Amino acid sequence: MCGIVAYVGPKDAAPILLEGLQRLEYRGYDSAGVVVSNKGLKMRKVKGRVADLAAAVPARFKGTVGIGHTRWATHGVPSDVNAHPHLSNDERVAVVHNGIIENADELRAKLEADGAVFLSETDTEVLAHLIARTVKETDSLEEAVRLALKRVVGTYGIAVLDAERPGEVVVARNGSPIVLGIGEKEMFAASDVAALVRYTRQVVHLEDGELAVLRADGFNTFASDARETAKEPLTVDWEAAHYDTGGYEHYLLKEISEQPDTVARTLRGRLDERFNVAHLGGLNMDARETRSFRRVKIIGCGSAYYSGQIGAQLIEELARIPADAEPASEFRYRNPVVEADTLYVAISQSGETYDTLAAVQELKRKGGRVLGIVNTVGSAIARECDGGVYLHAGPEVSVASTKAFTSTAVAFALLALHLGRVRDLSPADGRRICEGLRALPDQIKEILALEPQVKELAEKYADSPSIMFVGRVRGYPVAREGAQKLKEISYVHAEAYPASELKHGPLALIGPEMPTVAIVPDDELLDKNLTTLGEIRARGGRVLMVGHRVADPKLADDCLIVPKNEVELDPILLGIPLQLFAYHAAVALERDVDKPRNLAKSVTVE
Ligand code: F6R
Repeated sequence: MCGIVAYVGPKDAAPILLEGLQRLEYRGYDSAGVVVSNKGLKMRKVKGRVADLAAAVPARFKGTVGIGHTRWATHGVPSDVNAHPHLSNDERVAVVHNGIIENADELRAKLEADGAVFLSETDTEVLAHLIARTVKETDSLEEAVRLALKRVVGTYGIAVLDAERPGEVVVARNGSPIVLGIGEKEMFAASDVAALVRYTRQVVHLEDGELAVLRADGFNTFASDARETAKEPLTVDWEAAHYDTGGYEHYLLKEISEQPDTVARTLRGRLDERFNVAHLGGLNMDARETRSFRRVKIIGCGSAYYSGQIGAQLIEELARIPADAEPASEFRYRNPVVEADTLYVAISQSGETYDTLAAVQELKRKGGRVLGIVNTVGSAIARECDGGVYLHAGPEVSVASTKAFTSTAVAFALLALHLGRVRDLSPADGRRICEGLRALPDQIKEILALEPQVKELAEKYADSPSIMFVGRVRGYPVAREGAQKLKEISYVHAEAYPASELKHGPLALIGPEMPTVAIVPDDELLDKNLTTLGEIRARGGRVLMVGHRVADPKLADDCLIVPKNEVELDPILLGIPLQLFAYHAAVALERDVDKPRNLAKSVTVE
């Protein structure tokens, strides 16, 4: 998805902007551009990669203030002309924009009637013309941007330059993130901290409706009614090195391999041996309040939703509170009944997914109590929630979620333990879960050591036109995530079904050409699962079983055996070989593993 970088300070802006844009490449884009201010605006933009843009920027492209952009086409094809920045006709104003202007057609018609000449097909260009018209009247860039944005319906993160104010950048946010970076006599802004961490760890997140004016010596922020707002800078603990592949061939493999560490970080300081409880200080709830909830409703999108399904199961089992998960993208549109005795939990790696954010805002508006399980500190969803649990998994760069998925499931185990131990979960069961959680990092190392075997299996199955994933109860969300990982990065069609549902329809698909990956943990449902494997094999279907004990060769062609933990925690481990499976299938099929087609890392549009 699109990326924004802005700089104002004493240094040459172009190399900083290009470096920042490179850091945002992982989000996916099709074109890139930069503009700097130096006795007028100098602009370069190209369809293609940031490296192509860098090659197009001449040595004389000097200026100490500038803005840059990576575009992911929404209005108009990927092309040099549609790439951002966009200029006003007098070349006084330059704009880069993330998001979608919904009333762009209407504004465009009015501006054209007023003499504006549009060069691109984009919705963004209306902003350049609108701001250019008001800046002449107000002689204040910040006021011109504020007035222009009042006419706009939609979402935006924008950065704006005015050739007549060469020491200033104005940025604004509504539904699309903007983060300010505070340097030594220099200021940065970006749509993602990834572009800032090389230069500063001191950041300020803009809220929806806020606007900021950046100068080399500092910044001011304003609400949409022009009132100045006070912002406390936040220190981010993510480093530039987190954004390198660290010697791995792909970010995805690096992030899968980091999981012993990232899970240890999610657990760190949160398990209490004395009372066998979990300490989650960020929940901001005392024991009485924690006991008062009668239901838990979990929302998130995509893989976050599937980790929420694992979470719902954990909460029901350990805390005996009815819990369920729902895609946030559906929840927000169905006018949900919001109840005072329901605890709502929103999940997001990025903390910026628009559907999840909108669902949280709807819940808050209706008085719901919302916790966030979020990876990105200070992100919009984290700020919007009443409290929550940070994953501390470090930045996830590859588009497909892996380490954040696993850490979210671990965070849910902590939450379930916490909710359970203020209710009826016994100290002995509490101890059992604490010990199980502590064992996870080493067990993940054991699973990672299976990589050569998983690679061989992935290569064996990768040329199947379609793969069925099945699991029962605790295994079902694992199957769903396994299918999701495979389809998004290898483009092999995959379906996930509860194993119990197979005979109610999808069994008709099973045959030699459609293998099944079956999640078969060693739990009270083992026999039922083995019966399902028999049914698949009887129809000529091949079976790859992922579980704890080698199955009879009559039931499974291949078995991947992972270490056993407590039954409630096993789903956390069973998902990891499926990540490796998807990764190696994608590599075998020569896919763009870290940037699968049509997808973006954080979906900040509706
Ligand atoms: C799948 C994937 C997506 C995200 C979803 C939510 O691998 O990455 O399905 O899980 O877009 O993103 P976050 O967690 O950032 O809200």
